[in-house]
Amino acid sequence: MKKDLAARDSNLKDLCKKDPILSTWSERELNALKPYSEILYKLLTLETKASYSISRLCDNNSLLYDSSNNKILDSIKFAPLHPAPAHLDKILESTPNQCGLQGVRVQNSENLESKTTCHVERSETSKILESYPNGRVQDIGVQNSENLESKNHNPNLTQILESTNLTKNTESKNHTKEAFSLYFHNAKYNEFQTLQDLALDLKPWRKGPFCLYGAENNTQFFIDSEWQSNKKMKLILQALDIIGYNLKNKVVLDVGCNNGYYMFDLALRGVKHISGIDPIAIFFLQFYFIHKLTNISHCTFRLLGVQDVIMLNAKYDLILCLGVLYHRKEPLQTLKQLKSILAPNGILLLETLILQDKAATCLCPYPTYAKMPNVFYIFSPQALQNLALHAGFKSCEILSYSYTDNTEQRSTDFIDKKSLGDYLTPTQTIEGYPPACRGIFVLS
Ligand SMILES: C[S@@+](CC[C@H](N)C(=O)[O-])C[C@H]1O[C@@H](n2cnc3c(N)ncnc32)[C@H](O)[C@@H]1O
Repeated sequence: MKKDLAARDSNLKDLCKKDPILSTWSERELNALKPYSEILYKLLTLETKASYSISRLCDNNSLLYDSSNNKILDSIKFAPLHPAPAHLDKILESTPNQCGLQGVRVQNSENLESKTTCHVERSETSKILESYPNGRVQDIGVQNSENLESKNHNPNLTQILESTNLTKNTESKNHTKEAFSLYFHNAKYNEFQTLQDLALDLKPWRKGPFCLYGAENNTQFFIDSEWQSNKKMKLILQALDIIGYNLKNKVVLDVGCNNGYYMFDLALRGVKHISGIDPIAIFFLQFYFIHKLTNISHCTFRLLGVQDVIMLNAKYDLILCLGVLYHRKEPLQTLKQLKSILAPNGILLLETLILQDKAATCLCPYPTYAKMPNVFYIFSPQALQNLALHAGFKSCEILSYSYTDNTEQRSTDFIDKKSLGDYLTPTQTIEGYPPACRGIFVLS
């Protein structure tokens, strides 16, 4: 028995050395995977690959990746981004000068409306996607289903999109249709079963949802994560749209990327390369599972924290730092660390809990915030802007506000405990603190 384990460990070492992601890791990162040797071994030796990866934020916005040929397909339907949620308008109505920020881009519902309309107009006039010799998305335009049909490289694509709506009842259909989906053309029943078992071994799934579709048996497996991260993804795309940011050929880093949910989506939007860092091993293993199945090679992961960014030895055009800053004990240092790895003209898109207060002030909850013991600072927008200036950024603009509620983050069968959503009401946290309002900021 001991001999078997030693043989497996040595085999595991060899497999790690050959793996495109793990071979770049330091000894410390690899050591952190030791408690998960068994599952890591299963993942490293997994043979199954999805035929297609599909990121579908809504029915009209499907990005497809041909996993077998490692190619982003030109069959993209991109609908206008969803208008901001109604409650956002309400908050913004009361904000024009409330935050006292210079250069607030979205100040009230009228402006927001006109931004959205602007996008609609642009989309309507934008041309149908051409075919791309280099296999990369070059522009995101609008396509109707007829065009999608006629421009398909693969005649089965429309069929695939339809079949990934296999669900029988409407309730689960609503959930699954916005999942990051993996479509398996030829996976046998046993292979599909292995994937489901692996997904269950990888619990808790905090970010998602992901969905595995098996064409052979007309089956699906829905990973109903704690977070419906597709909602935040829409807000991020909306924020990028507000500043007119073009993702094409950009080098991107997602700090605190969890299992890489946003990275998989962004990887399909024409970026040159996207990497993520997160120090929690189980989230990496989830990433590795999806990554291995999707075969998206321009998407990588290091098991590092924001304090380790120097080890990346790289600069980034766009850094995402979502839901991390309020967990940091040294937020000024964190901002400085992020600034240090921005390329010239690079931007940091920062999403964090904020306090709705005009003054440059900050809430330090104790002992918990919505039962989370690791929320240290919740800044007002003005305070965050001041902190950003201290960190050496020239500007920090707020792009949007919105509330997290118990539909976005909730208990599901894929997590191990209760969720933040269980400790929030629309007006306050269980401790009586202001409700979870988050802001998205652009820092440059
Ligand atoms: C609230 S979650 C946010 C996840 C994701 N960015 C999102 O917005 O959905 C915080 C994430 O930060 C990660 N994290 C914990 N310590 C970190 C550190 N020192 N540096 C970077 N990320 C860290 C956690 O593992 C977790 O995935």
